[in-house]
Amino acid sequence: MLNIALPKGRLGERVYAMFERAGFACPTLLENTRKLIFENEECGVRYFWVKPSDVAIYVERGAADIGVAGKDILLEYEPDVYELLDLCTGKCRMAVAAPVGFRDDPARTLKVATKFTNIAQNYYASKGRDIDMIHLNGSIEIAPILGLSDVIVDIVETGTTLKENNLEVIETVVPISARLIANRAAWKFKTEQIQTLCDHIAMQLQTEEQTK
Ligand code: PRP
Repeated sequence: MLNIALPKGRLGERVYAMFERAGFACPTLLENTRKLIFENEECGVRYFWVKPSDVAIYVERGAADIGVAGKDILLEYEPDVYELLDLCTGKCRMAVAAPVGFRDDPARTLKVATKFTNIAQNYYASKGRDIDMIHLNGSIEIAPILGLSDVIVDIVETGTTLKENNLEVIETVVPISARLIANRAAWKFKTEQIQTLCDHIAMQLQTEEQTK
């Protein structure tokens, strides 16, 4: 059995469709139930839905052989897993945003609010900029509005949340997309199955790219 952790939600459903086309179907997965684990013995797969930010934990610890995680999670938590493939979906970017018209004063320590402290730390360290890090768990956009921070480091997809809060992107930190990841031991012992899946999905992505 190949154990696959999928991120619960729209991205997970899109990714499952890729796995299905790659020959790893599990029709019961699409039944509208509260079940979280689904098996198809014939194809040798067992899928489970987990919180998107938890996928890498399941894979790193071997509870899942492979899974799909956002590059943001991989950069933030640096799990000890193999990153096999960019699935070119779930695209967005990690960005620095600030109130419209904000001017950075390099002489002052910059107050940065974010959920992604590791990414922000690495980013500002690479620029040699002193910062005061403020870790928040959500609704990050409020921080600069209330004067809690100067800027935020957060995910921007459509840009709507920033716009509606009178904020704008001032720097892009890194582009983000969903990645196929594998547990290190599973990659060793289930190489053929994982490689087959990986190759089929890579071929799908290539075909999609050519028909664009
Ligand atoms: C994310 C992110 C932004 C928003 C960006 O929030 O933190 O708030 O999406 O998307 P947009 O550019 O399309 O508006 P999420 O919905 O994950 O919730 P959060 O507030 O808990 O971070």
